[in-house]
Formats: sequence, C-alpha cells, structure tokens
Amino acid sequence: MQVLGQELVKWYENHHRNLPWRHTKDPYQIWLSEVILQQTRVDQGLPYFLKFVHTFPTVELLAKATEQEVLSLWQGLGYYSRGRNLHKTAQIIAHEYNGAFPNSYEGLLKLKGIGPYTAAAISSFAFDLPHAVVDGNVFRILSRYFGIDLAINSSAGKKTFEKIAGEVLNIKQPALHNQAIMEFGALQCKPVAPKCSECPLQLSCAAFAENKVHLLPVKEKKIKIRHRFFVYHVQTDQENRLALERRVAGDIWEGLFQFPMIELKSSEEQITYLQSFATSWQSPKFKHVLTHQKIEAYFVLAPLREKKEEKIHYSLQEISELPLPRLIDKFLEQHRKDLPI
Ligand code: ADE
Ligand code: SF4
Repeated sequence: MQVLGQELVKWYENHHRNLPWRHTKDPYQIWLSEVILQQTRVDQGLPYFLKFVHTFPTVELLAKATEQEVLSLWQGLGYYSRGRNLHKTAQIIAHEYNGAFPNSYEGLLKLKGIGPYTAAAISSFAFDLPHAVVDGNVFRILSRYFGIDLAINSSAGKKTFEKIAGEVLNIKQPALHNQAIMEFGALQCKPVAPKCSECPLQLSCAAFAENKVHLLPVKEKKIKIRHRFFVYHVQTDQENRLALERRVAGDIWEGLFQFPMIELKSSEEQITYLQSFATSWQSPKFKHVLTHQKIEAYFVLAPLREKKEEKIHYSLQEISELPLPRLIDKFLEQHRKDLPI
C-alpha cells in the first residue's frame, strides 16, 4: 500500500501540471476550483477559476454579488442550478460562518452542496487533514492497480474502494497524495489508452499483469425503469359475476387473469381517459413496483368501451381460485366493499 502512495508522489513531482489552485491553502479558492472542476475538464475550467477569483477574491464578495453576476460568470459551464448553489453556499459561509470555511471534514460535509469528495478535497488541500479523495480517477486507478472488478457504482464497490483509498492515503502528506492520485488518473492511468508502457506502477499493477486494463473499472449498467399506466374496468353481469380476461404472452403476468384493461402512454393520458368515466366509481391510484417496471393503475366501475373478444364472467368464489397478479388481489382486498355485488 505504502509503495503505491510513494510511487504516485514521485511520479507527481516530475509530471504534474502547474495549476493555480495547487499554490493556495485558501479553502475558498480550493472550493471554487473543485466546484468548477466537477463541471468540466481542467483546461476548460481554468479560465473560469481565474475569472471567479479575480472578480470575487473572497467568499464575502461572492456572497454580496447578485445572482445575475454569478450566473453570467458561470455561463458556459452548464447546469445553472450549480452556479446558483455556489452563490447560496457562499452566502451561508459569509453570513452564518463569519466568512470562514469549517476546518474539519465533518463541518464541511454539513454544508449544502459539499459532498464526501469535496469535503475530502478541501480538508486535505486547505487544512492538511488525512481524508482521501475518491473520484473517478481514484476508482479507476485502484480498480486497475489492485485488479478489483467490483462495480464502482454499486454500494459494495463504493465501500471497498473508499476503504482502500483510505488505506493507501499517505497521512503525513494528504494534500500531496490526493493531488498526485488525481493527476496520475488524469494524465497517466487515463480512461482510454492509459500509458502502461511508461508507467512506474507497471510491475506491481494487477490489471497490467493479468492483461485486463481495458476491462477495468467495471461499471454496472443502470437498468431503465419502465413506467406504465393502466386502467382496469370492473364490470359485473346480472348474476354478480365479474368480467375477466387472460393476459397474453410476451409481457408481465403472462397467462394470469385480470379485469379488462387499457394501457395509456402517459400519466396525462391516463387522467384524461379517467375523466371520461367521471360518473362511474373510481379507485384511488395504485402504485405497483416490479423489478424493471413501475405501474400506476386505477380501477373504474364501467365496461371497457372498445369491443374486444367476449369476456368470460366469474363469480368471486371462482375468482379466488384463479391465478391473479398481486395488483388485482390487492384491489379486491381493499375494494371488495365498493363493488355492487
Ligand atoms: N479535478 C478535480 N480536482 C482537481 C484538482 N485539484 N486538480 C486537478 N484536477 C482536478
Ligand atoms: Fe494504470 Fe497501466 Fe499503470 Fe496499471 S500499468 S497503473 S493500468 S497506467
């Protein structure tokens, strides 16, 4: 572990870029630089940093500016809400903290807009406190160097990499170490085409030894949740039986029984559709969550207008023997009393 830290610092001393926020211990300037660099790359962020420091040399001056002034300097960085938050945080520090940034990791974390990464950056760079930064660079280097294929966006992965980052940290020189590991990630162990052939860590790098540099870090694909909008039609016949249909193949609940149902494309369409049955009894909204789908359903006491195939009617007794989606079961449990049977 120590070897990695030592090599990173040695490499940093020979290769780092000369960047203005590395020559200051002013937490305000360090915070500014980190907020800007969360938004953009170093070469694009640099002129913004210089403009902000020049226009607002202190947090009080930034706090006193109008929102318009702040946003016009921010222009081009995108996400104006972040520019607005920058201004708000400056006002909180100016007014509630007497213009002084908290000088502890925990104190910094309490500020709106300062998360674990920024708190570690400010507490190490400005106050030399032993907190390891964990950003995309750090995830990448640690996953490759130690050959760890845990997903960096899974909770187990995050925990593991944060723990290792803390163990690797050189607690005597946390500021230097944190700058070094991020710079190494930005210039050497890059996301695409890392410079393994001229890397001082090559001999001890697990990913290089196992020829899987290009496979790390692993990122889990976030499964997209599909939102669906159902309206079920509860319809009784003279013999107090309910019309049911069977769900077709190729979708959720294949082969299970349900009330005749129409699917709408959006929540708005669903509401408009329901309004056309305003005189019929309607259930409150049911929310039903499946692994990859979120269903919002209503039940309305009226026949489905469109002519589908003949529905078969079943008594409640018969229905209790049929396979039903949990959603239909829930409806019957809660609203049996609202049915005219
Ligand atoms: N990206 C985020 N913080 C940085 C820093 N302090 N130096 C270089 N790149 C960074
Ligand atoms: Fe990164 Fe390649 Fe160096 Fe390993 S050998 S640390 S993958 S640059």
